[in-house]
Amino acid sequence: MASQSGPEAAEEHTSGADIQSFFDSAPPLKNSLEITDKLKEFLDKNSIPTRDGRANRVVCVTSGGTTVPLEQRCVRYIDNFSSGHRGAASTEYFLKAGYAVIFLYRRGTCQPFCRSLPDDPFLECFKFIDKSHVKVREPHSEAVKMAISDHHNVIEKGLLLKLPFTTIFEYLQMLQMVATSLSVLGPHAMFYLAAAVSDFYVPWKSMAEHKIQSGSGPLDMSLVQVPKMLAVLRKEWAPFAYCISFKLETDKNILLKKADMALSKYKMHVVVANELLTRKEEVVVVTGDGKVSVCRDKTQVDSDVEDPLIKLLVEKHSIHLEDSCS
Ligand code: PMT
Repeated sequence: MASQSGPEAAEEHTSGADIQSFFDSAPPLKNSLEITDKLKEFLDKNSIPTRDGRANRVVCVTSGGTTVPLEQRCVRYIDNFSSGHRGAASTEYFLKAGYAVIFLYRRGTCQPFCRSLPDDPFLECFKFIDKSHVKVREPHSEAVKMAISDHHNVIEKGLLLKLPFTTIFEYLQMLQMVATSLSVLGPHAMFYLAAAVSDFYVPWKSMAEHKIQSGSGPLDMSLVQVPKMLAVLRKEWAPFAYCISFKLETDKNILLKKADMALSKYKMHVVVANELLTRKEEVVVVTGDGKVSVCRDKTQVDSDVEDPLIKLLVEKHSIHLEDSCS
């Protein structure tokens, strides 16, 4: 959700007290022990240096939009737009570049290796012969085989950990857990924050428990600002990690100015600026050294902008690693 109308409007002021109050009011994660165990297992595996003595690189890719429930027994919620395509595609390219990936994603959004699967309803992709023989219909057979085998490959090697969220409460608690766990990797850890994160929420304690009744006329509801966690992620949760955030706007006239502001205010290493309508064609990579426009290769039908984008970010991360280790 957009939170203000112009670039000059102050970006959200987040204090330690706002952050504390957000976490205090959040309903605790139901599966936090399970997530802790999964993170530990993943990091034990991926923090061992490779055969040539190099430390592994691990990236946390966040993907999809967070929801803001309006009732504790939630019937209605406010959602943030994001198909999850950016996060899913980027995950595939990071894996290809040799990174292990924690994919923190909104339930039901796009998944890595599923982009080339058919849009047809799932069951219509199969041909039933008898109970022990079910075949994938042509022309989908090759795409389905590739998706299953690529996914199986990275899961088998322990290179991809998928953690789903739905609400803003779940997302920020999980991001904190991932960030504090990844801090042991120092500059080898990267955050690629492509999720579309809610800017306003209803604190759990002031939220109606039951379905809000429609009989009593217009709904008058006050939302509180979600604290921006980018600064605390940089300063406290994972101070040595390489951090990339996204800036989404619908008005291209304010996009780059807002990206510059995010870069300096939250001390991000990179801000990727994108406009809603053209986000699949072009993004602008904003760093302290300047701005680089990255475009999809339009001569190739199946090309996507994430391919050159991840190549550029991996190069920048390598330079950052050299600088941090020298
Ligand atoms: O999923 P797709 O359909 O492929 O679309 C991709 C995308 C457009 C969602 C993606 O490229 C993108 O821009 N994601 C960030 C959207 C967003 O929340 O932008 P923002 O300008 O509101 O926030 C900027 C940054 O602050 C984000 O990195 C966000 O993670 C962070 N944030 C936002 C709000 C908040 N309360 N706390 C935050 O930390």
